[in-house]
Amino acid sequence: LTGDAAAGERVFRKCQACHDVGAGAMPKSGPVLNGILGRPAANAEDFAYSAAMTSAASTQDLIWTPQTLDAFLTKPKAFIDGTKMTFIGLRKDEDRANVIAYLATFLEE
Ligand code: HEM
Repeated sequence: LTGDAAAGERVFRKCQACHDVGAGAMPKSGPVLNGILGRPAANAEDFAYSAAMTSAASTQDLIWTPQTLDAFLTKPKAFIDGTKMTFIGLRKDEDRANVIAYLATFLEE
């Protein structure tokens, strides 16, 4: 990964209203993101995903890699039509690379 995790922690402020990470993280309006790198989409057991996200996971075998996360975070609703992640996206390449590097530091609890 080429991103800077420390800079990504600051970018993650934009995600924190809806997502929690780290020890004891709990679902908010979005799922907990611990261990997200390498995991199939829509895989947190305690979260009710949209039909669109569930279907992307099962019919397209969507796995969250740095590449798929980069595409999703650029413009969530363009990457997964019908996702309930109501976030405009991160326009800057650097912000996406950094937040992905930050997420990679959290393993599945
Ligand atoms: C889903 C990351 C901002 C609400 C997801 C997923 C990721 C992610 C990776 C897929 C999770 C999975 O498959 O288990 C991020 C990042 C953000 C961000 C890095 C900031 C840059 C937000 C914001 C909100 C939000 C601001 C609320 C307004 C959601 C919801 C889902 C989701 C509701 C489930 C989507 C669905 O089922 O269609 N997010 N997110 N996220 N996120 Fe975010």
